[in-house]
Amino acid sequence: MSISLVNLHPPPADLQRLVRDGLQRSPRQLPAWMLYDAAGSRLFAEICRQPEYTLTQREIALLEDNAAAIAAATGPGLVVEFGIGNARKVDPLLTALGSKVFAALDISLSALKEALSGLSARHPNTTMVGICCDHTRLEQLPQHPALDGQRRIGFFPGSSLGNFTPEEAVDFLHNARQLLAGGPLLLGLDQPREPALMEAAYDDAAGVSAAFARNLLQRLNRDLQGDADPTQFRYRAHWQATQQRIEMALVSTQDQTVHLGGEAWFFRQGDAWITEHSVKYSPDAAAALAAQAGWRIQRRWTDPHQQIALHLLLPAN
Ligand code: AVJ
Repeated sequence: MSISLVNLHPPPADLQRLVRDGLQRSPRQLPAWMLYDAAGSRLFAEICRQPEYTLTQREIALLEDNAAAIAAATGPGLVVEFGIGNARKVDPLLTALGSKVFAALDISLSALKEALSGLSARHPNTTMVGICCDHTRLEQLPQHPALDGQRRIGFFPGSSLGNFTPEEAVDFLHNARQLLAGGPLLLGLDQPREPALMEAAYDDAAGVSAAFARNLLQRLNRDLQGDADPTQFRYRAHWQATQQRIEMALVSTQDQTVHLGGEAWFFRQGDAWITEHSVKYSPDAAAALAAQAGWRIQRRWTDPHQQIALHLLLPAN
Protein backbone atom coordinates (compact mmCIF):
# COMPACT_ATOMS: atom_id res chain seq x y z
CA MET A 1 0.00 0.00 0.00
CA SER A 2 1.60 3.23 -1.11
CA ILE A 3 0.41 6.84 -0.92
CA SER A 4 2.56 9.85 -1.68
CA LEU A 5 1.58 13.50 -1.51
CA VAL A 6 2.87 16.50 -3.43
CA ASN A 7 1.83 19.91 -2.08
CA LEU A 8 1.44 22.64 -4.70
CA HIS A 9 -1.32 24.57 -2.89
CA PRO A 10 -1.36 28.28 -3.81
CA PRO A 11 0.44 30.28 -1.06
CA PRO A 12 -1.43 32.71 1.28
CA ALA A 13 -0.11 35.69 -0.72
CA ASP A 14 -1.98 34.33 -3.77
CA LEU A 15 -5.15 34.03 -1.73
CA GLN A 16 -4.95 37.67 -0.69
CA ARG A 17 -4.32 38.85 -4.25
CA LEU A 18 -7.11 36.70 -5.72
CA VAL A 19 -9.55 37.92 -3.07
CA ARG A 20 -8.67 41.52 -3.88
CA ASP A 21 -9.12 40.87 -7.61
CA GLY A 22 -12.42 39.08 -7.11
CA LEU A 23 -13.93 41.68 -4.78
CA GLN A 24 -12.98 44.50 -7.13
CA ARG A 25 -15.04 42.92 -9.86
CA SER A 26 -18.68 43.71 -10.41
CA PRO A 27 -20.45 41.56 -9.42
CA ARG A 28 -18.09 40.32 -6.72
CA GLN A 29 -16.94 36.74 -7.16
CA LEU A 30 -13.93 34.61 -6.11
CA PRO A 31 -12.54 31.42 -7.67
CA ALA A 32 -14.70 28.47 -6.66
CA TRP A 33 -11.78 26.49 -5.20
CA MET A 34 -11.75 28.86 -2.21
CA LEU A 35 -14.95 27.20 -1.01
CA TYR A 36 -12.98 24.04 -0.29
CA ASP A 37 -11.03 24.40 2.92
CA ALA A 38 -11.33 21.39 5.24
CA ALA A 39 -14.74 22.52 6.54
CA GLY A 40 -15.94 23.38 3.04
CA SER A 41 -14.97 19.94 1.73
CA ARG A 42 -16.92 18.33 4.58
CA LEU A 43 -19.95 20.54 3.90
CA PHE A 44 -19.82 19.72 0.20
CA ALA A 45 -19.80 16.01 1.03
CA GLU A 46 -22.89 16.66 3.13
CA ILE A 47 -24.58 18.47 0.21
CA CYS A 48 -24.02 15.31 -1.82
CA ARG A 49 -26.11 13.39 0.73
CA GLN A 50 -29.08 15.78 0.62
CA PRO A 51 -32.20 14.35 -1.04
CA GLU A 52 -32.52 17.37 -3.37
CA TYR A 53 -28.95 17.04 -4.66
CA THR A 54 -29.32 13.85 -6.68
CA LEU A 55 -26.27 14.38 -8.92
CA THR A 56 -23.71 12.46 -6.85
CA GLN A 57 -25.78 9.36 -6.14
CA ARG A 58 -26.89 9.10 -9.75
CA GLU A 59 -23.39 9.55 -11.09
CA ILE A 60 -22.02 6.89 -8.73
CA ALA A 61 -24.75 4.48 -9.89
CA LEU A 62 -24.02 5.32 -13.53
CA LEU A 63 -20.32 4.60 -13.02
CA GLU A 64 -20.96 1.39 -11.12
CA ASP A 65 -23.41 0.13 -13.74
CA ASN A 66 -21.14 0.91 -16.70
CA ALA A 67 -17.62 0.53 -15.32
CA ALA A 68 -16.74 -2.44 -17.55
CA ALA A 69 -17.99 -0.75 -20.73
CA ILE A 70 -16.24 2.49 -19.80
CA ALA A 71 -12.95 0.69 -19.14
CA ALA A 72 -13.25 -1.11 -22.47
CA ALA A 73 -13.82 2.22 -24.22
CA THR A 74 -11.00 4.15 -22.53
CA GLY A 75 -8.44 1.36 -22.69
CA PRO A 76 -5.95 0.75 -19.86
CA GLY A 77 -3.78 3.35 -18.17
CA LEU A 78 -3.09 5.50 -15.17
CA VAL A 79 -6.17 7.40 -13.95
CA VAL A 80 -5.77 11.14 -13.31
CA GLU A 81 -8.74 12.55 -11.40
CA PHE A 82 -9.27 16.30 -11.35
CA GLY A 83 -10.66 16.94 -7.86
CA ILE A 84 -10.94 13.81 -5.73
CA GLY A 85 -14.28 14.79 -4.23
CA ASN A 86 -16.15 11.59 -3.58
CA ALA A 87 -13.72 8.69 -3.80
CA ARG A 88 -16.61 6.34 -4.52
CA LYS A 89 -16.73 7.60 -8.10
CA VAL A 90 -13.25 6.52 -9.14
CA ASP A 91 -13.45 3.28 -7.17
CA PRO A 92 -15.37 1.20 -9.78
CA LEU A 93 -13.15 2.61 -12.56
CA LEU A 94 -9.92 1.61 -10.80
CA THR A 95 -11.36 -1.88 -10.37
CA ALA A 96 -12.51 -2.20 -13.98
CA LEU A 97 -9.29 -0.78 -15.40
CA GLY A 98 -7.00 -2.62 -13.00
CA SER A 99 -4.91 0.56 -12.81
CA LYS A 100 -1.56 0.25 -11.09
CA VAL A 101 -1.33 3.99 -10.49
CA PHE A 102 -3.90 6.60 -9.51
CA ALA A 103 -3.08 10.32 -9.50
CA ALA A 104 -5.58 12.46 -7.58
CA LEU A 105 -5.57 16.25 -7.83
CA ASP A 106 -7.42 18.33 -5.26
CA ILE A 107 -7.26 21.76 -3.66
CA SER A 108 -7.83 20.38 -0.15
CA LEU A 109 -4.91 18.48 1.38
CA SER A 110 -7.11 17.06 4.13
CA ALA A 111 -9.69 15.81 1.63
CA LEU A 112 -6.92 14.22 -0.45
CA LYS A 113 -5.40 12.40 2.50
CA GLU A 114 -8.74 11.09 3.67
CA ALA A 115 -9.88 9.97 0.21
CA LEU A 116 -6.61 8.26 -0.67
CA SER A 117 -6.29 6.36 2.58
CA GLY A 118 -9.84 5.04 2.14
CA LEU A 119 -9.23 4.11 -1.50
CA SER A 120 -5.89 2.44 -0.93
CA ALA A 121 -7.45 0.11 1.64
CA ARG A 122 -9.67 -1.20 -1.18
CA HIS A 123 -6.95 -1.06 -3.86
CA PRO A 124 -3.82 -2.22 -2.02
CA ASN A 125 -1.88 -2.84 -5.25
CA THR A 126 -2.49 0.63 -6.70
CA THR A 127 0.11 3.33 -6.08
CA MET A 128 -1.71 6.51 -5.04
CA VAL A 129 -0.20 9.91 -5.81
CA GLY A 130 -2.06 12.87 -4.29
CA ILE A 131 -1.30 16.29 -5.73
CA CYS A 132 -2.66 19.24 -3.75
CA CYS A 133 -3.14 22.08 -6.23
CA ASP A 134 -5.63 24.24 -8.05
CA HIS A 135 -6.37 21.39 -10.45
CA THR A 136 -8.10 23.76 -12.83
CA ARG A 137 -4.79 25.45 -13.62
CA LEU A 138 -2.26 22.62 -13.49
CA GLU A 139 -0.57 22.33 -16.87
CA GLN A 140 1.48 19.23 -16.25
CA LEU A 141 1.83 16.53 -13.66
CA PRO A 142 4.79 17.04 -11.30
CA GLN A 143 7.83 14.79 -11.65
CA HIS A 144 7.19 11.53 -9.86
CA PRO A 145 8.60 8.07 -10.66
CA ALA A 146 5.16 6.44 -10.49
CA LEU A 147 3.79 8.80 -13.14
CA ASP A 148 6.49 8.22 -15.76
CA GLY A 149 5.81 6.77 -19.16
CA GLN A 150 2.25 5.56 -18.68
CA ARG A 151 -0.78 6.22 -20.78
CA ARG A 152 -3.10 8.68 -18.98
CA ILE A 153 -6.87 8.55 -18.59
CA GLY A 154 -8.43 11.77 -17.30
CA PHE A 155 -11.48 11.66 -15.05
CA PHE A 156 -13.42 14.85 -14.23
CA PRO A 157 -16.78 13.85 -12.74
CA GLY A 158 -19.39 15.66 -10.67
CA SER A 159 -20.12 18.40 -13.18
CA SER A 160 -17.28 20.38 -11.62
CA LEU A 161 -16.59 21.88 -15.05
CA GLY A 162 -19.86 23.75 -14.49
CA ASN A 163 -18.14 26.03 -11.97
CA PHE A 164 -16.26 27.69 -14.83
CA THR A 165 -17.46 30.24 -17.32
CA PRO A 166 -17.62 28.64 -20.78
CA GLU A 167 -14.36 30.45 -21.69
CA GLU A 168 -12.60 29.09 -18.60
CA ALA A 169 -14.03 25.66 -19.34
CA VAL A 170 -12.44 25.72 -22.79
CA ASP A 171 -9.10 26.74 -21.19
CA PHE A 172 -9.40 23.90 -18.70
CA LEU A 173 -10.19 21.33 -21.41
CA HIS A 174 -7.31 22.63 -23.45
CA ASN A 175 -4.91 22.29 -20.50
CA ALA A 176 -6.25 18.84 -19.71
CA ARG A 177 -5.57 17.77 -23.28
CA GLN A 178 -1.88 18.72 -22.85
CA LEU A 179 -1.65 17.16 -19.41
CA LEU A 180 -3.19 13.89 -20.57
CA ALA A 181 -0.74 13.72 -23.48
CA GLY A 182 -3.01 12.01 -25.99
CA GLY A 183 -5.09 10.04 -23.49
CA PRO A 184 -8.89 10.26 -23.19
CA LEU A 185 -10.96 12.29 -20.71
CA LEU A 186 -14.09 10.99 -19.03
CA LEU A 187 -16.17 14.07 -18.21
CA GLY A 188 -19.29 13.94 -16.00
CA LEU A 189 -21.73 16.80 -16.67
CA ASP A 190 -25.09 17.65 -15.16
CA GLN A 191 -27.77 18.33 -17.79
CA PRO A 192 -30.38 21.11 -17.62
CA ARG A 193 -33.63 20.04 -15.90
CA GLU A 194 -36.74 21.71 -14.62
CA PRO A 195 -35.67 24.97 -12.87
CA ALA A 196 -37.51 24.21 -9.63
CA LEU A 197 -35.62 20.92 -9.28
CA MET A 198 -32.30 22.60 -9.92
CA GLU A 199 -32.97 25.49 -7.54
CA ALA A 200 -33.94 23.05 -4.78
CA ALA A 201 -30.73 21.09 -5.36
CA TYR A 202 -28.74 24.27 -4.67
CA ASP A 203 -30.85 25.47 -1.74
CA ASP A 204 -31.73 22.32 0.19
CA ALA A 205 -34.26 22.35 2.99
CA ALA A 206 -31.67 21.37 5.61
CA GLY A 207 -29.66 24.50 4.81
CA VAL A 208 -26.42 22.72 3.96
CA SER A 209 -25.95 24.60 0.66
CA ALA A 210 -26.35 27.90 2.52
CA ALA A 211 -23.86 26.80 5.18
CA PHE A 212 -21.40 25.81 2.44
CA ALA A 213 -21.61 29.31 0.91
CA ARG A 214 -21.31 31.03 4.31
CA ASN A 215 -18.26 28.93 5.12
CA LEU A 216 -16.43 30.92 2.44
CA LEU A 217 -16.64 33.98 4.72
CA GLN A 218 -15.44 31.96 7.71
CA ARG A 219 -12.53 30.62 5.70
CA LEU A 220 -11.52 34.10 4.56
CA ASN A 221 -11.88 35.50 8.09
CA ARG A 222 -9.45 32.87 9.30
CA ASP A 223 -6.92 33.04 6.47
CA LEU A 224 -7.00 36.82 5.97
CA GLN A 225 -7.75 38.01 9.54
CA GLY A 226 -11.16 39.23 8.45
CA ASP A 227 -14.41 40.24 10.14
CA ALA A 228 -17.09 39.20 7.62
CA ASP A 229 -20.26 38.29 9.53
CA PRO A 230 -21.97 35.33 7.80
CA THR A 231 -25.26 36.13 9.55
CA GLN A 232 -25.44 39.48 7.73
CA PHE A 233 -25.80 37.81 4.35
CA ARG A 234 -28.68 35.73 3.09
CA TYR A 235 -28.14 32.87 0.68
CA ARG A 236 -29.82 32.71 -2.73
CA ALA A 237 -29.74 30.18 -5.62
CA HIS A 238 -31.34 31.15 -8.95
CA TRP A 239 -31.60 29.45 -12.35
CA GLN A 240 -30.43 31.83 -15.11
CA ALA A 241 -31.90 30.48 -18.32
CA THR A 242 -29.83 32.61 -20.72
CA GLN A 243 -26.57 31.26 -19.37
CA GLN A 244 -28.03 27.83 -18.54
CA ARG A 245 -26.67 28.07 -15.01
CA ILE A 246 -27.52 28.23 -11.34
CA GLU A 247 -26.14 31.32 -9.68
CA MET A 248 -25.39 31.04 -5.96
CA ALA A 249 -24.87 34.22 -3.99
CA LEU A 250 -24.66 35.74 -0.52
CA VAL A 251 -26.77 38.90 -0.45
CA SER A 252 -25.96 41.61 2.07
CA THR A 253 -28.91 42.14 4.44
CA GLN A 254 -27.75 45.65 5.31
CA ASP A 255 -25.18 48.32 4.49
CA GLN A 256 -21.93 47.03 5.94
CA THR A 257 -18.15 47.13 5.66
CA VAL A 258 -16.18 43.89 5.59
CA HIS A 259 -12.44 43.84 6.35
CA LEU A 260 -10.26 41.16 4.79
CA GLY A 261 -6.46 41.10 4.74
CA GLY A 262 -6.27 44.73 5.86
CA GLU A 263 -8.62 45.99 3.16
CA ALA A 264 -12.16 47.34 3.58
CA TRP A 265 -15.06 46.35 1.31
CA PHE A 266 -18.36 48.16 1.41
CA PHE A 267 -21.61 46.29 0.73
CA ARG A 268 -24.93 48.01 0.28
CA GLN A 269 -28.06 46.23 1.41
CA GLY A 270 -29.00 43.89 -1.45
CA ASP A 271 -25.49 43.72 -2.96
CA ALA A 272 -24.64 40.21 -4.12
CA TRP A 273 -21.40 38.34 -3.51
CA ILE A 274 -21.53 35.49 -6.01
CA THR A 275 -20.15 32.33 -4.46
CA GLU A 276 -20.50 30.06 -7.51
CA HIS A 277 -22.02 29.38 -10.86
CA SER A 278 -23.06 25.90 -11.86
CA VAL A 279 -23.46 25.69 -15.65
CA LYS A 280 -25.52 22.81 -17.03
CA TYR A 281 -24.61 21.29 -20.39
CA SER A 282 -26.96 19.58 -22.80
CA PRO A 283 -25.27 16.94 -25.01
CA ASP A 284 -25.07 19.47 -27.88
CA ALA A 285 -23.59 22.17 -25.65
CA ALA A 286 -21.05 19.67 -24.31
CA ALA A 287 -20.04 18.65 -27.83
CA ALA A 288 -19.59 22.28 -28.89
CA LEU A 289 -17.46 23.01 -25.83
CA ALA A 290 -15.28 19.95 -26.36
CA ALA A 291 -14.75 20.85 -30.02
CA GLN A 292 -13.51 24.33 -29.08
CA ALA A 293 -10.78 22.75 -26.96
CA GLY A 294 -9.61 20.20 -29.51
CA TRP A 295 -11.62 17.21 -28.26
CA ARG A 296 -14.40 15.17 -29.76
CA ILE A 297 -17.02 13.21 -27.85
CA GLN A 298 -16.75 9.60 -28.84
CA ARG A 299 -19.42 8.13 -26.55
CA ARG A 300 -21.69 9.01 -23.70
CA TRP A 301 -23.51 7.23 -20.91
CA THR A 302 -26.59 8.79 -19.29
CA ASP A 303 -28.51 7.82 -16.15
CA PRO A 304 -32.18 6.73 -16.37
CA HIS A 305 -33.36 10.18 -15.18
CA GLN A 306 -31.35 11.91 -17.93
CA GLN A 307 -29.72 14.07 -15.29
CA ILE A 308 -26.06 13.29 -15.64
CA ALA A 309 -24.04 12.37 -18.71
CA LEU A 310 -20.59 10.80 -18.74
CA HIS A 311 -18.92 11.95 -21.95
CA LEU A 312 -15.86 10.16 -23.28
CA LEU A 313 -13.63 12.74 -24.94
CA LEU A 314 -10.79 11.82 -27.31
CA PRO A 315 -8.28 14.23 -28.84
CA ALA A 316 -9.88 15.49 -32.04
CA ASN A 317 -6.98 14.47 -34.28
C1 AVJ B 1 -18.78 20.73 -7.30
C2 AVJ B 1 -19.27 22.46 -8.83
C3 AVJ B 1 -20.14 20.28 -9.18
O1 AVJ B 1 -22.15 22.86 -9.02
O2 AVJ B 1 -23.16 21.08 -8.37
C4 AVJ B 1 -23.16 22.12 -5.18
C5 AVJ B 1 -20.89 22.63 -6.33
N1 AVJ B 1 -22.26 24.02 -4.76
N2 AVJ B 1 -23.94 22.81 -4.32
C6 AVJ B 1 -22.22 21.87 -8.31
C7 AVJ B 1 -22.09 22.90 -5.46
C8 AVJ B 1 -23.40 23.94 -4.08
C9 AVJ B 1 -21.06 21.56 -7.36
N3 AVJ B 1 -19.82 21.28 -8.14
